[in-house]
Amino acid sequence: MAPAPAERLPASEAGIRRASEWLARGGLVAFPTETVYGLGADARNSTAVARIFEAKGRPSFNPLIVHVHDMNAAHDIAEFPDDAERLASAFWPGPLTLVLPLRAETAISPLVTAGLETIGLRMPAHPLAQKLLARFGGPVAAPSANTSGRISPTRPEHVLRDLGAKIDAVLDGGACDVGVESTIVGFFPEPTLLRPGGLPREAIEDCLGRALARADAGSGVTSPGQLSSHYAPASRLRLNATERKPGEVLLGFGAVEADLNLSPSGNLVEAAANLFEYLHRLDASGPGAIAVSPIPDHGLGAAINDRLRRAAAPRAPNGSGVPAGG
Ligand code: TXA
Ligand code: MG
Repeated sequence: MAPAPAERLPASEAGIRRASEWLARGGLVAFPTETVYGLGADARNSTAVARIFEAKGRPSFNPLIVHVHDMNAAHDIAEFPDDAERLASAFWPGPLTLVLPLRAETAISPLVTAGLETIGLRMPAHPLAQKLLARFGGPVAAPSANTSGRISPTRPEHVLRDLGAKIDAVLDGGACDVGVESTIVGFFPEPTLLRPGGLPREAIEDCLGRALARADAGSGVTSPGQLSSHYAPASRLRLNATERKPGEVLLGFGAVEADLNLSPSGNLVEAAANLFEYLHRLDASGPGAIAVSPIPDHGLGAAINDRLRRAAAPRAPNGSGVPAGG
């Protein structure tokens, strides 16, 4: 196990077998999902789960999403209110996480839920994630595979650069299609949007036939990872920028002249897929200041704007005791 540098495993039967063996031995394996790369461990093995928190430098009260292969596994772990069952049938496998009541008798390590009586469950659609979950045959706890508070990884290179010395393997699936994390919906019992993400809220509301409640400051319901400074690049970000000021690079959207353009044609799906890769690139080029074009706030634009606002938020100084998110 680590600290040998992480193995980069190919997207083949042999690579999947090796990744599954690492999970079975309590190892940490980064794997692609259609949203971002996850840092996986056996959700029933507390020592393995503790290693996730250690590798990410993550506050331990921040619960992890558990990834499952099929509905039987999901029903073994959590109770599904009717609305949750409806969303799972419509959108799983896919970029949706459901926060559900945890069943009393499960094998899930209490570290995964950080002591909560709910659990975040997700069935990913990425073929490599599905094959890994099928072969491993158990629930896999996986937050995004980045140091806590940093930009989420959408390519194996991002994972290796950030966590290569701390984890056992990365299953190489190339770039992620969706590029922003899953949408999170909880049931309290009202279906509530906890985090905008890769599945547009509009699609969820169409399916349910009503609006999602919002988890805002006043409601007392939050996703613990939704702390305002998150997804932080080293550079400062200036949002809704209509021009580049001296010393800035421009991350564009639509028909603007920019250093990198999320989608010159103004396509939000393309922009989401490029978001974290382009932030990684501009940050690595070391400009210190990134201006970002305005992004429309509908569909995947809501998730993009959420991540950009968090990336632009003032940081808690190190050691202040204020945690960053996942
Ligand atoms: O797309 C994704 O969701 C990726 C891939 C790897 O699946 N995962 C991901 O995980 O983004 P992470 O840990 O970076 O973010 C999970 C979020 C956190 O904000 C956490 O607080 C919240 O889910 N969460 C997990 N379990 C929860 C629970 N029981 N109640 C409320 N929020 C929960
Ligand atoms: Mg995260």
